[in-house]
Amino acid sequence: MKVVGIVGSPRTGSNSEILVRRVLEGASSKGAEVELFKINELKINWCQGCFNCQETGKCKQTDDMGKIYSALETADAVVIGSPIYMGHVTAQTKTFLDRLFALVKISAGESKLKGKKLILVYSQGAGNDGEMIMKEIGKRLSNFGMQLLGIIGGNMLNQPEAVKERKELLESAFKLGSQIS
Ligand SMILES: Cc1cc2nc3c(=O)[nH]c(=O)nc-3n(C[C@H](O)[C@H](O)[C@H](O)COP(=O)(O)O)c2cc1C
Repeated sequence: MKVVGIVGSPRTGSNSEILVRRVLEGASSKGAEVELFKINELKINWCQGCFNCQETGKCKQTDDMGKIYSALETADAVVIGSPIYMGHVTAQTKTFLDRLFALVKISAGESKLKGKKLILVYSQGAGNDGEMIMKEIGKRLSNFGMQLLGIIGGNMLNQPEAVKERKELLESAFKLGSQIS
């Protein structure tokens, strides 16, 4: 089994990254091969809306998203983690999500994401809308055939590494990862 983690936080000590890593550790504990991509450290352009992918099945941009497309094609599960910025996922995460358009062919109802398991992770400050925001993203990706296994995250996590004090969250993240099968 192969599990790909995506982190959309730009910062060091990211709580969402720590949670994504815990999910991956849970998966590794059951023998999964894991790979982590940090969007902020890659060169990934915005979707240009050309619809080339809808005709050819491929994005015509040549950037680091190519590595992620390759990893996703062979992945059994994907873990996407993001902080909540201005009531949504970060721009890094949204850019990644937009670029997933190249893996689906809307008119034919085809999706290279079909059957892949999905876990969504968030981290936020004083707000309490992270779960709802991730549910919406989960619905969209479910429309592309992904199977949402769970959403994990918490608020009051402005301090880098604050989530290390939240044992219950770390344990839930590990457990969710170990349940990917
Ligand atoms: C530009 C910006 C916008 C933010 N917007 C929100 C928000 O709308 N709601 C919220 O609860 N927290 C918001 N936060 C706080 C972050 O979601 C919070 O610090 C989060 O835990 C950061 O995740 P990370 O540790 O993975 O980087 C914002 C932070 C920044 C820097």
